[in-house]
Amino acid sequence: MAAARPMTGRVCVVTGATSGIGYVTALELARAGASVAAVGRDANRLAEAVTRIGSAVGNAQVQGFTADLFLQSEVRRLASEIGRAYPQVHVLVNNAGAVFSKRDQTSEGFERTWALNVVTPFLLTHLLLPRLEASAPARVVNVSSAAHGGVTLNFENLQGENRYSAFGAYSRSKLAVLLLSYEFARRLADTRVTVNALHPGFVSTGFGKNNPGAFGGVIGFFSFLFGIRPQRGARTTIFLASDPSVENVTGKYFIRSHEVASSPASYDGAAGARLWDVLSLQTGIPTDVLARPL
Ligand SMILES: NC(=O)c1ccc[n+]([C@@H]2O[C@H](COP(=O)([O-])OP(=O)(O)OC[C@H]3O[C@@H](n4cnc5c(N)ncnc54)[C@H](OP(=O)(O)O)[C@@H]3O)[C@@H](O)[C@H]2O)c1
Repeated sequence: MAAARPMTGRVCVVTGATSGIGYVTALELARAGASVAAVGRDANRLAEAVTRIGSAVGNAQVQGFTADLFLQSEVRRLASEIGRAYPQVHVLVNNAGAVFSKRDQTSEGFERTWALNVVTPFLLTHLLLPRLEASAPARVVNVSSAAHGGVTLNFENLQGENRYSAFGAYSRSKLAVLLLSYEFARRLADTRVTVNALHPGFVSTGFGKNNPGAFGGVIGFFSFLFGIRPQRGARTTIFLASDPSVENVTGKYFIRSHEVASSPASYDGAAGARLWDVLSLQTGIPTDVLARPL
């Protein structure tokens, strides 16, 4: 069991709540008394997840929100629906993420790994920030990965335009998540909104299974054999979302609920600032929003 600390009166938004780490996170935050906005892209899978949480937690306050997080238009609709449903938001868990064996673009013209793993957390965090700031103390929890180690960002190939490999794209997306987590933390330093990131471990989930053929099968096989269960894989996310000991901790990276150093490339402030500008351009969020002095 990955128990959350008491969360009564807190509103938590969890993306990717239909499966794996996100599902357990939503379940345990609901069990701890939080109101949970569970986000999923498939209405049936989402309804099933909400029903399962309701059966497991007697008085669960869970509401499902459908959004395809490949698309900025959907992220914007989601943010306004959440804004209408909840006057306050205390926790945003940017958990949804995936790896793609083949390069393809969303209908908005972005490479899928980039769109889902990087653009969406950047945009959703921005759109929910007014709510988070007004509800402070508040937290943003970004699910990164140890896969970020050993890669650097190539700004000429951010979306695999020139060269694409599934794990290269995935690893760089998780490095981008870390750079952005630290950049958000710096820019939000004078607020009571914290931003932290984590690696959940090698977890046996639906991860990779979205891919046809051997690619998804091989990941599934190894994660079945060697992966930890989602209940354990969700512990660090739940810890960062709920534990009082990290209420004032921001701009840090955690594994097994302990603060650890991320890769040297993830602390490249110039790369973080440049990435911020790229994403501002891609999302239409003005570059200087949150540009507070360091
Ligand atoms: N498993 C690991 O070993 C591991 C290790 C390091 C980091 N992580 C990270 O942990 C996070 C959670 O992954 P997981 O392991 O729990 O995998 P998972 O079981 O595949 O869960 C991923 C979640 O993201 C959702 N999602 C995928 N594409 C989406 C889209 N376009 N729009 C909306 N939602 C979408 C999925 O929804 P559907 O149900 O509709 O597909 C699912 O709910 C990811 O960010 C992953 O990169 C995982």
